[in-house]
Amino acid sequence: MNGDFDWSSLFADRIGGRAFGIDNAGYKFERIKRAKAAARLAHPEIPLIDLGVGEGDWPADQKVVDTLCREAGLTENRRYADNGIPEFNEAASRYLERVFNVKVIDPNTEILPGIGSKSLLAMLPACFINPGDILLTTVPSYPVMASWARFLGGEVFELPLTEENDFLPDLSSIPAEILRRSKMLYLNYPNNPTGAIATTEFFASVVAFARKNGIMVVHDAAYAALTYDGSAPLSFMTVPGAREVGIEVHSLSKSFNMTGWRIGFLCGNALAIAACAAVKDNTDAGQFRAIQKAAISALNHPEITERTIDKYSRRFDLLVPALRSLGFDAKKPFGSFYCYVKAPTGTARGVQFHSASDVSDFLLGEALVSTVPWDDAGAWLRFSVTFEAETEDDEIRIVEELRSRIAALELFF
Ligand SMILES: Cc1ncc(COP(=O)(O)O)c(C=O)c1O
Repeated sequence: MNGDFDWSSLFADRIGGRAFGIDNAGYKFERIKRAKAAARLAHPEIPLIDLGVGEGDWPADQKVVDTLCREAGLTENRRYADNGIPEFNEAASRYLERVFNVKVIDPNTEILPGIGSKSLLAMLPACFINPGDILLTTVPSYPVMASWARFLGGEVFELPLTEENDFLPDLSSIPAEILRRSKMLYLNYPNNPTGAIATTEFFASVVAFARKNGIMVVHDAAYAALTYDGSAPLSFMTVPGAREVGIEVHSLSKSFNMTGWRIGFLCGNALAIAACAAVKDNTDAGQFRAIQKAAISALNHPEITERTIDKYSRRFDLLVPALRSLGFDAKKPFGSFYCYVKAPTGTARGVQFHSASDVSDFLLGEALVSTVPWDDAGAWLRFSVTFEAETEDDEIRIVEELRSRIAALELFF
C-alpha cells in the first residue's frame, strides 16, 4: 500500500530511478521463470523438461547434512561468525592443495569465507572501483561484478568470448585508452555459459597482462572442480605470479550440491583479501558457524564432487549425441555443467528466429523444453545437464523425450 507517498522520486538511478518497478521484464532469469510458469499452465498434461537451471539436482551429501544437524544446536555456534572461523580457512587451504595443487595458502591472510561466491563478487568492486574506473569482463558472463561496478559509477568494458578464440578473451584487443582506466579483470573458467576451460598458458598470459597494465585479476572458480575426460581442475593460483596480481573466488554450491547453503571463499593476494574483509565487515556478519562446519566436512571429502562429475559426464554423453542428431553443433565441454550451442535460425515450417531468446521462447512454448539463451556474442543456447532425473534409466528416457520433442519442430541452422 503506497497511498499518495511518492516512492518514485526516491529510487536511486542505479536501479532505474523513477522507472523502477514499472517494467522489470528485462531481467532475463525473471523472464524465463515467468515463461516457464506460463508454459506449465498452458500444458499441465506435459511435463516440462528443464535444462535451464544453474544448480545441481542432487541434495548435499548426507555427511554434510548430518554435520549441519549436529552443529546447528550447539550453543557455541550461535554467535556472529564475522569474517569466518579459522577451521574453515584451514579446511579451504587444504582443499586447494588437495584438489588443485595450490601450495601453502596462508589460512589467516590468504583466505576469506563468504556467504556464497555471489556476495563476494558483489563486494569486490567496492574495494577497487571509483567513479570512472573500468572493469574488464568477458561476455557472456555471470553479471554480478559488472552490475556492481556500474552501481558504483564505474564502467564496464566487454571482452567477447567467441568460438574462434576457444572462448578465451583476446586481451590484446583492448584499446590503450581503456587499459589506462582499467583496474580489474573478471574471468571465469570453467566458464558459465560456454563450458570452456582455461589453460596454464592462458593464465600465465593473464598474469603478464596484469603486471604490465597494473590491473588486478579476479578469477571466478565456481565450477573449477567440475571437469571431464581427463581435464584436471585448474586454479589460477597455481600459475607463477598469480598471487601477486589476483584473487580467486571458490564456491561449494556447484561442486558439493550446496547452492542454497550459501558458502564460498576467496583466496589469493593478502592485500586484496584484506580489502574485501574491510568491505565485508560492513556488509554481513558471516555465515552461520554450523554451515561453515558442515562446509568443512564437504571440503574434507572431495570424492563427493567426483560422484557428481560422473553423473554429469554420463548425462553429457547422452545429451551431446542427441543434440547433434537434431542439427546442433554440440560438443561435450571439458568443464562446468553446460553445453553451449549455436542457436538455430528457423524451422522447416517457416518460423524465423532473430535471436537466441526467440529460440528459447519457441522451445519452451512448443516443446516444453527450457533452456537459457545468450545473445551477447552471437546467438547461443545453454543446455544444462542438471535436469531432474532420479535414475540412469530416467536420464536416458528424459534425453530421448527431449530429442523427440525437438525433432518434431524441424529446426534448421
Ligand atoms: C560463474 C558463476 N559464478 C558464481 C556463481 C555464484 O555461486 P554461489 O553464489 O552460489 O557461490 C554462479 C552461480 O550460478 C556462477 O555461475
